Amino acid sequence: MGDIPRFTHQLAAAGFVAADLEAVRIVDRCADLGVADVDGVVARRVAGEPLEHILGRCWFAGIELEIDPGVFVPREETELLARRAVEVLGAHASIGDTVVDLYSGCGAVACFVASAVPAAEVVAVESAPGTVRCFEANAKRFGVRAVVAEATAFEAASLQGSVALVTAVPPYVPTRELEFLGRDALRYEPVGAFDGGADGLRWITVTIDAAARWLAAKGTLLVELSEPTAGRAVSFVEDRGFRARLHHDDDGLVRFLEATRP
Ligand SMILES: C[S@@+](CC[C@H](N)C(=O)[O-])C[C@H]1O[C@@H](n2cnc3c(N)ncnc32)[C@H](O)[C@@H]1O
Repeated sequence: MGDIPRFTHQLAAAGFVAADLEAVRIVDRCADLGVADVDGVVARRVAGEPLEHILGRCWFAGIELEIDPGVFVPREETELLARRAVEVLGAHASIGDTVVDLYSGCGAVACFVASAVPAAEVVAVESAPGTVRCFEANAKRFGVRAVVAEATAFEAASLQGSVALVTAVPPYVPTRELEFLGRDALRYEPVGAFDGGADGLRWITVTIDAAARWLAAKGTLLVELSEPTAGRAVSFVEDRGFRARLHHDDDGLVRFLEATRP
């Protein structure tokens, strides 16, 4: 505790906006994990490395997961989508409990859903080689079926028309906007986790087409996206006969699209 003012000073000097909160977060997480060299952790944070990569752990909606350097770090804003997934499963228990989570990363959404709805059969799909170790380890711990595959190649015949819920946090940043990502994102996380192609819709449309094949009647797709792509994603999904609803955060920003099959 006594070191927090010193760490705050170091982080503020490195340009951290909420340096005091970050110092507390570092000290608390190190205490939880029994990490003795907190000075070493702060030095790496000052250089820009995500705390999650330094500690090998990330936290998402109340669960703790393994994460390796170079893997996309789950974002707090995605918790909105994950919590909605649990609500949807509760409301549509009659259409089954099979969930497919595409673009799973370390497995945050899939593992959260599996922990909140133990009866759900959760299948998670991720393709990046550097992500596979922690993806498979987390999936095993939470009872999720991990599939290492490209989203475009994953096709389970047994799933056609039987899935209650598809969740997806695809890469959705338009390529020309990648340069505006936070200072350290592309130094420590893979560009393939962010790059949504020229219009940001490349993987969103792949996801909508997959959901159209897999979902049962009344099944739901939840896909994370951002303001600039939302309107076109809504048109795309409505053209395929889905009912669409955009979800916003407390600041009024679009966070994800919910699309329900008739
Ligand atoms: C924005 S991250 C989201 C990860 C995770 N859902 C989360 O919220 O922490 C996107 C993930 O999709 C993976 N990915 C990108 N293209 C993919 C593809 N064609 N097939 C499968 N996974 C892909 C990336 O490796 C990355 O882990």
